[in-house]
Parts: sequence; structure tokens; C-alpha cells
Amino acid sequence: MPSFALLKTLIGLFLVSTQVLAQSCACGYKDSNGHVWREAIVSTFTQAAGALAAVNADWMVATDFEPQPTGTANIQYVTANVFQDQNQNGLGLKASAYDNSGSVKCAEIVTKKSGIQSGSFRMNAQVPSVPGVVFGFFTYINDSQEQDIEFLSSDTDYYQHLYYTNQPGQLPGGDVDPAAAKSVVVPGADFTTFGVHRIDWLPTQTIYSYAGMNMGVNITSSTTITKNVPTTPSRFILNVWSNGDSGFSKGPPTADAIATVKYVHLYFNSTSLSEASFNSACSAAGHPAVCNV
Ligand SMILES: *[C@@H]1O[C@H](CO)[C@@H](O)[C@H](O)[C@H]1NC(C)=O
Ligand SMILES: *[C@@H]1O[C@H](CO)[C@@H](O)[C@H](O)[C@H]1NC(C)=O
Ligand SMILES: *[C@@H]1O[C@H](CO)[C@@H](O)[C@H](O)[C@H]1NC(C)=O
Repeated sequence: MPSFALLKTLIGLFLVSTQVLAQSCACGYKDSNGHVWREAIVSTFTQAAGALAAVNADWMVATDFEPQPTGTANIQYVTANVFQDQNQNGLGLKASAYDNSGSVKCAEIVTKKSGIQSGSFRMNAQVPSVPGVVFGFFTYINDSQEQDIEFLSSDTDYYQHLYYTNQPGQLPGGDVDPAAAKSVVVPGADFTTFGVHRIDWLPTQTIYSYAGMNMGVNITSSTTITKNVPTTPSRFILNVWSNGDSGFSKGPPTADAIATVKYVHLYFNSTSLSEASFNSACSAAGHPAVCNV
């Protein structure tokens, strides 16, 4: 019955289009702290089209060579180390087992979007277990305008230890600045299982937080840093790297060290969509409800 098939197709199209309309977030995103953000990058690395399709949509894959004068090896970011993880659980980011070539093959993705300024940034991920690498989730424009979550796989308590830093994390004399760099242990947490790590970049503070589960128990943690909050529009980056320095990354790794990421959700304001343009777009879309995120 062709006409019935056509009707079904039309109903299907209608349902799809109303779902899309219902999901329109032209009036922005309201986060759990009540802040409204104009834009979003929602990367679902578990999607049917594959993790790399989500990477290609919104991210650049780094191929930089970064000489490391203080390390025992240089960093070579390579495309192949940003990969669909074997179990289809998400995106793999890998620092390869060191091959004594002088460089560690590492992984980094950087948002295509620049000009990000303030927002709520989340990833659902599990950390690498192989010692000798750094796994980073951070905003970046330069070395003194940067907010980082870092995991050091050489720490004995790497599965519950976080480094939160509003750069520069050191005082001019070289000592750690305790007001800008926080070393945080979350008792009971297991970062080798999937959990959500979050940076809320606000005008006068950065709120770093974690929400995960271990053995059926919810584990949460939150740390606020008010010093060195960036003021410059930035990009967002994830990476896994090692340079073999004895003080930080340690390593280089003797086996492949892999972080797996199920999703990255970035809700933010940027210089490319002004408040006025955002308000016009919200009106033009018929003032749909603000999306809660
Ligand atoms: C980083 O960017 C800020 C703002 O543009 C600038 O003032 C500062 O000098 C830069 N710092 C470095 C280390 O490049
Ligand atoms: C644990 O966290 C999840 C996700 O945030 C939430 O849905 C659930 O209600 C929490 N359970 C308890 C016992 O707090
Ligand atoms: C982000 O944009 C929204 C909507 O334009 C605005 O209300 C809010 O104040 C902005 N937030 C910051 C931190 O600039």
C-alpha cells in the first residue's frame, strides 16, 4: 500500500522534525549553578557514527612536534593516537609505549572553535592506568591563560588524585603557588571507571569538580580557585602526553597509556556569538525554553 507507506513516511518526518524543534536550544543552556550559556559543543563519542565522526565535527587533531628541553624525550602528537577505542566505548587518546626514537607519540584534540570565554565544560572519561603520562582537560590560549585538570598516571594514588591549576601554577621564584594550583585527592573515587570531570569558568572563579560512582556509591568533590582566572578568549583541549621528565609526567611509558572518553559537553559564551545576535536568534526561533544542562 504505497499511500500508507507515504503516510508513515510523512508521520515519521513530522515526528523527527518536532523532536528537532523540541530540542532547539536557541535560547541557550542553563547549567546546574543557574548560569546561562549561549553556545554548545556536544561531542558524543559513543554515537553510532563512531567517535572519530564526533572528533571531525568539532575538533582538530594535533600533529605538532614539541621539543622538550627538560624531558628525556620530545612530544610528537600523531593522528593515529586519537582513535575509536576497541570496545566501542568511546574515544581513545593514547601516549604510545616509548620506542626510544627520541619522541613519545602522543594524542591531542583542540576545539575548532576559538574565542571561548567562560562556560561549563564536562567530560565523562576514565584515566590511563599505565604510569608515565599526563592526561589533561583544559582551556588554553597561552601558558599564563589556562585552566587545567591533570591526572598523573605515575602517582601511586593516580585513580583518585587530581591537579587543578589556574596557570601560572608557580610563583615567580618557581615554588608551587598554593592559591593557583591545588593537588586534590578524592577519597573513595576510582577514576579508572567512567566519571564526570568538570570545569566551570566564571568571571571571578574557576570551579573544578568531579561526580562519579564507585561500588554503587556516589562520590563528588568540588574545588574553587579564584586566583589567575583567565580573562582571554581560548580554545578547549584534551591530551595524553609524556616527555619523561622526572618531576611531572615521569615516564616515558613502557606500554600504551590510554584515556577513554565517552563524551565532552562544552557550554559556553564565545566572541563569535554576541549577546545581541544570541537574543535575535532566540526570538527568531520563537523563544523556545532554555535547555537545562
Ligand atoms: C597570554 O595572553 C595574555 C592576554 O593576551 C597576555 O597578556 C600575556 O602576555 C600572554 N602570556 C604569554 C606567556 O604569552
Ligand atoms: C547518584 O548520582 C546519580 C547521577 O548523578 C543520581 O541520579 C542518583 O540519584 C544518585 N544517587 C544517590 C543515592 O545519591
Ligand atoms: C553568557 O551569555 C549569557 C546570555 O547572553 C549572559 O546572560 C551571561 O551573563 C554570559 N555569561 C558570562 C559569564 O559572560
